[in-house]
Amino acid sequence: MSVVSVIGGQWGDEGKGKIVDYICRDIDLVARYQGGANAGHTVYINNKKIVLHQIPSGIIRENCDCILGNGMVVDPIGLVEEIKLLESFNINVEDRMYISFNSHIVTPFHKMIDKFSESKSKSKIGTTLKGIGPAYVDKYNRAGILAFDLLDHSNLNLKLQSKLSDLTSQYDNYDIDLNEVNDSLDKFKKCCQKISKYIKDGFNLLHERHKKNSNILIEGAQGTMLDIDHGTYPYVTSSSPTSGGISTGLGFPGNQVDENIGIFKAYTTRVGEGPFPTELNDRFGEKLRRIGSEFGATTGRPRRCGWFDAVAARYSCKLNGFTKIALTKLDILDEFDEVLICNSYKVKGKEYSNFSEVQYYLNEVEPVFQHFPGWNESTYGKKSFEELPENAKKYILLLSNVLETPIKIISTGPKRNQIISI
Ligand code: IMP
Repeated sequence: MSVVSVIGGQWGDEGKGKIVDYICRDIDLVARYQGGANAGHTVYINNKKIVLHQIPSGIIRENCDCILGNGMVVDPIGLVEEIKLLESFNINVEDRMYISFNSHIVTPFHKMIDKFSESKSKSKIGTTLKGIGPAYVDKYNRAGILAFDLLDHSNLNLKLQSKLSDLTSQYDNYDIDLNEVNDSLDKFKKCCQKISKYIKDGFNLLHERHKKNSNILIEGAQGTMLDIDHGTYPYVTSSSPTSGGISTGLGFPGNQVDENIGIFKAYTTRVGEGPFPTELNDRFGEKLRRIGSEFGATTGRPRRCGWFDAVAARYSCKLNGFTKIALTKLDILDEFDEVLICNSYKVKGKEYSNFSEVQYYLNEVEPVFQHFPGWNESTYGKKSFEELPENAKKYILLLSNVLETPIKIISTGPKRNQIISI
């Protein structure tokens, strides 16, 4: 009887998959509104870890149907692999997954262009190479292929031919291996055929379910600081992971969303290039990476690690209108003598606590840290707030305070039941 969104509050990889899975116990429908196979949502089935890239994590709860919204860019090859993976765990996707007619399709051409741009560019973004940016370029250039186009094979073939000739006129064999593109086209077309049965009216399903008072979860991918409009541009993704993206990415009005839950890691990580004020290039950063297994779920790249950046997080709370916070990976901080929070930045001797004031000077800012005693005691698997060590409780309350948003869910380990609900 409510609509809840789950949104990454930092630079992605906050552990949204687990929180979505937790909330989905009571949910009938999960809808994703942006991004594509660049996401990697880790979930556990019978203690086995799996990573979902495009299908909302709700699919692993059998009571839940899923929508891939119009704001997404869908990769048919990756999607077929994901469906196979789920079926190998006896999770039935058929009749439970809706790819919206007007979501866009990532072709092998987009992946090639992504690779080419990243290899040639002087200022690399550090993309996931999944073709996301080029697919959104085509969308906004009104030259994209819609999921709807997959329902008419001859029309799809014409569009692909025209894309291929565009590609050959813009790039030569030194830039892009056209033979490789041609080879992958066969596989691509087969996958398009396989997923065509899932292409249905997601818009109508969402609104019908809402009218029937179903419990609906809206799943964000990536994170607020990677938002194309509000993130650390140009080191961002090409979509709107913030709550603003929900209305356009699903055709669902923002004023019908009852709760926006912000997911924050108890520290901060980022993958790819771009400014990261609280980054730790020392043994503490290394320790966070090791204990937190901070390696990209999609690309395997080591994540950059740092202390909790409350300046960026406060901005994120305002931007998204978070009504509550889920704090993840608290247990990763268990073995630190001190934990630090950055509550302001210093630039040229002046202190700032509003992110938007210094957003374009992030390479020059110096984080101002507040130091707190650590708890040096295990929080792993704790299930109630009362069981937590005193200093861990203080850390959580302090974060809640500086973010002016209540922390209501705390994750204390990767498993489904290692969670505290306050
Ligand atoms: P793209 O989305 O592949 O174009 O990559 C653009 C930027 O967003 C790069 O810095 C990526 O590392 C980052 N990015 C994209 N998806 C994710 C994600 O799911 N988690 C964390 N970072 C991401």
